[in-house]
Amino acid sequence: MRKLFHGISKMWGVAAERGRYRCGAEMGEVEAFTSAWMLVEDGRIVGLGGAEGSYGEDVGAMGEDEILERIDLGGVEVLPGLVDSHTHIVFAAPRHEEFEMRLRGESYEAIAAAGGGILNSARKLQVMSEDDLYAAAADRLKVMIAHGTTTVEIKSGYGLTTESELKMLRVVKRLKQDFDILIKATFLGAHGIPMEFKGEPDKYVDLVITDMLPKVVEEGLADHIDVFCDRGFFTVEQTDRILKAAAAMGLPSKIHANELGLTGGVQVAVANVSWSADHLEHCSEVEIDLLRSSLELEYGGTVPVGLPGTSYFLGIPYAPGRALIDAGLPFAMATDFNPGSSPIASLQMVWALGCTQQKLLPAEAFYAVTCNAARALRCEKEVGALAAGQRANFFTTNTVDAIKAIPYFVAQNHCDRVFVNGEEFLLK
Ligand code: NIG
Ligand code: FE
Repeated sequence: MRKLFHGISKMWGVAAERGRYRCGAEMGEVEAFTSAWMLVEDGRIVGLGGAEGSYGEDVGAMGEDEILERIDLGGVEVLPGLVDSHTHIVFAAPRHEEFEMRLRGESYEAIAAAGGGILNSARKLQVMSEDDLYAAAADRLKVMIAHGTTTVEIKSGYGLTTESELKMLRVVKRLKQDFDILIKATFLGAHGIPMEFKGEPDKYVDLVITDMLPKVVEEGLADHIDVFCDRGFFTVEQTDRILKAAAAMGLPSKIHANELGLTGGVQVAVANVSWSADHLEHCSEVEIDLLRSSLELEYGGTVPVGLPGTSYFLGIPYAPGRALIDAGLPFAMATDFNPGSSPIASLQMVWALGCTQQKLLPAEAFYAVTCNAARALRCEKEVGALAAGQRANFFTTNTVDAIKAIPYFVAQNHCDRVFVNGEEFLLK
């Protein structure tokens, strides 16, 4: 069944080859077609083109009878579906009380050390049913999709017991079944040290490795492992143990690194061939050089992922996105959508923060939330760009010159219609 989308004034984020992501200076300009069209078969793009030329199958060379359905989009601009490579959308409730404590001057770290923060979220999640968690997470996912996001990574980490971690990951499994967008699951049992293990964190690490991990793997509930490697949370040594145990069971890693300090997170990530090192609010030349040299290694390198929503909401430094791009790295950004440090669903907002706070050009920030974010999940051949062979996941906008206007006219939703595998996603 072939569908031809036309009536596209501008189609942004096109690529000649499937799976291309962008490093450093390659991020400076967005490839686009004007007066564009896209041919879709079985949910995948098979050809696309415009006034500048075409990639893949050419609609001009095609007989009328070869196209079964024509969809006139009415002169809009089209962008690839955005990719959110780091979220925590399965949670019980917002932490309004901590928001107010922070506004009165208390720090995120101090609140966490006193048993709030992640442990507060865990207490609430442990007593909530799987069905209620599913319903709340599905609602959040719909908001994200309505803002143009069509790939989402979702972490556990508010369970902190075997039972509750499995409960969270089963919610993610149901989301995967019920939504046609691409969803990836990450096991983050090592997100916080439960009160019962205070003073003996290695015992909790043992529980993660010997009890939780085998069950998660056996049920096929995770695509990756994650650890909150930072001051007051898990040490480099504990992180290394967990990542090695997970790798032995076939799980690749992506970790929380250097949110609260220069704590060795990047070093342990690169040593464990992690797909990404996320946060990096603290990141010196040493870390930047190490990330750059990792690109030459056999595994292809660790993607630096900035989470500017967290910096905005907590008032902490921003990851040095500008310096990471200038060093030639495939910088990516994600929402970190969670109830404690980044209650932000929209990658359009992250795109804007990347520009105003990290001095990224609009084009650079666009690549950071599309193909480079896909690379952080090693799914750049599936999503993140409009290229033959990739999923027909895209959104339309009536905003003109969208790449520049989206981060400029901030705090509004520029996304009008969302298509997933070539079908319109209708919010119920
Ligand atoms: O990425 N830093 C660790 N985890 C989350 C926040 C978790 C929370 O505060 O609930 C983050 O910021
Ligand atoms: Fe996070």
